Amino acid sequence: MKEFDSDELSQYNGENGTPIYIAHAGKVYDVSESKLWRNGLHMKRHNAGRDLTTDIQAAPHQTDVLERYPQVGIFKKEVEERKIPAAIAWMLKKYPMLRRHPHPMTVHFPIVFAFSPPTFVFLYLITGVKSFEMTALHCLGGGIIFSIVGITTGIYTWWLNYLAKPLKAVKIKIPLTLTMLVTEIIIFIWRILVPDVLNSIRGVSIIYLLLVFSLIPMITVIGWFGASMTFPVEKE
Ligand code: HEM
Ligand code: HEM
Repeated sequence: MKEFDSDELSQYNGENGTPIYIAHAGKVYDVSESKLWRNGLHMKRHNAGRDLTTDIQAAPHQTDVLERYPQVGIFKKEVEERKIPAAIAWMLKKYPMLRRHPHPMTVHFPIVFAFSPPTFVFLYLITGVKSFEMTALHCLGGGIIFSIVGITTGIYTWWLNYLAKPLKAVKIKIPLTLTMLVTEIIIFIWRILVPDVLNSIRGVSIIYLLLVFSLIPMITVIGWFGASMTFPVEKE
């Protein structure tokens, strides 16, 4: 039976009319005839052309559904010949969730903390209540800490699970997350040094405000491109 490695399997992802193959537990199945794998996408989230052994554990069905389709080959998982440091390899064996979960688990914090400063500054602007403005400062502090956590786990998951390949989403996320972090640090330090920067909105205060509100588009784009990797958008 034909042997597939991950590069070869990835060519059968249903794009441009190619056959639709998926791998599970060392076997490659041809699901081209399935309505539920049309265009190589299953349930709007699982891409064909990959080893889905782990993913199927979250499915509402058992693995017997695979038997509806012919096996067309054997999937040869490359043993992680990439030099993963022994400590990380040991940790992943003992706690398999540390492979995929750290990034999705930690990204919600920088997202909330990036939306919060503009939200609270906006509340301060419309109500004049100073404590809203103080909350914005505190949230900026949280934003700096959790952006660093999000960036670290992002680089980790990209290196470990995406072999640090220069994917479009990652090429956008890396510079943008760094820009967002630098922006958060600038406004945080600015606000500490000039506590009354928003007492009246004119001159440099407008630049301060623009920087605060620039967090909204930045975090939206970062989150969008992140999620586009985990939940691909269905193609027509
Ligand atoms: C967590 C995400 C998943 C959801 C929500 C999901 C949902 C479903 C549903 C509702 C069906 C129809 C059930 C039936 O016909 O009995 C189905 C069928 C199927 N699923 Fe999944 N599934 C998921 C993940 C996977 C994964 C990762 C694989 C591959 C390893 C897979 C392979 C299949 C196959 C081969 C079928 C049969 C399709 C057919 O009969 O044409 N599913 N799935
Ligand atoms: C503050 C920084 C970051 C935020 C808020 C963020 C946000 C997200 C979000 C919301 C997801 C979708 C997760 C899910 O729904 O399961 C995601 C996935 C992802 N992000 Fe990030 N990200 C950040 C930094 C980075 C960086 C710096 C990189 C790469 C170097 C990166 C690489 C990835 C990858 C590879 C995925 C797919 C994860 C997977 O499939 O398991 N992220 N990100």
